[in-house]
Amino acid sequence: MKCLIVYSTLTGNTKKVAEAVSGAIEGSEIVSVDQNPEPSGYDLILSGFWVDKGQADAKTKNYLTRLKGRTVGFFYTLGAYPDSSHADDVARVTEELLKAEGNVVLGSFRCQGKVDPELLEKMKKMLPPDHPHAQMTEERRARLEEAAKHPNEEDLTKARAFAEAMYRKALAGAV
Ligand SMILES: Cc1cc2nc3c(=O)[nH]c(=O)nc-3n(C[C@H](O)[C@H](O)[C@H](O)COP(=O)(O)O)c2cc1C
Repeated sequence: MKCLIVYSTLTGNTKKVAEAVSGAIEGSEIVSVDQNPEPSGYDLILSGFWVDKGQADAKTKNYLTRLKGRTVGFFYTLGAYPDSSHADDVARVTEELLKAEGNVVLGSFRCQGKVDPELLEKMKKMLPPDHPHAQMTEERRARLEEAAKHPNEEDLTKARAFAEAMYRKALAGAV
C-alpha cells in the first residue's frame, strides 16, 4: 500500500509529528506541502498542518482542494489544548472540507505545539489593546506554557499509534 504524508510547518512542530507518523508506516513517503506532490497513485494520504486562525494553514487548505475521492487522514498541531472546542472545530471544518470533495476520512490526530515567542510579541504590538490575544491572562499564560512543552515524546508516541491505525483502516478498506 502506498502512503503519502504531506506536511506544512512554520516553526517545525508539525514536521516533527509528520516524521513520527512517517516512521510508523514502512515505505511511506514524506513530502513538504511546498513541493505540492501529485496525490494520484497513493492508497492513503495523510495531511499534517499547523492551525492558523482556527483553520488549517493556507498552504494546506490549498493542497486539500487537490484531493478528490481519496482515502485520507489528517493531523495538526496548535497552540490551544487538544481537548478544547477550538481544537474540535478545526477537525470538524477540515473533515467537512475533505468530505465535500468525496474523500473518505479515516480519522485525525492533534497535539499542542509551541507558539513562536516572536509572533506573540508581534501580536501584542499589532492588535488593539482590548483584543484577547493582546492580553496575557492567567489562563492564556498557562496554555502557552503548556504548549511550549509540545510536541513531546508522548505526543509522538500517540502520533505513531494514529499512523498505524490509519494504515490498518486503509488496508481493511482496500480489500
Ligand atoms: C500566525 C499564527 C496563527 C496561529 N493561529 C492559531 C490558532 O488560531 N489556534 C491555535 O490553537 N493555534 C494557533 N497558532 C499556533 C500554531 O498553530 C502552533 O504553534 C503550531 O504548533 C505551529 O506549528 P509549526 O511549528 O509546524 O509551524 C498560530 C500560530 C501562528 C504563527
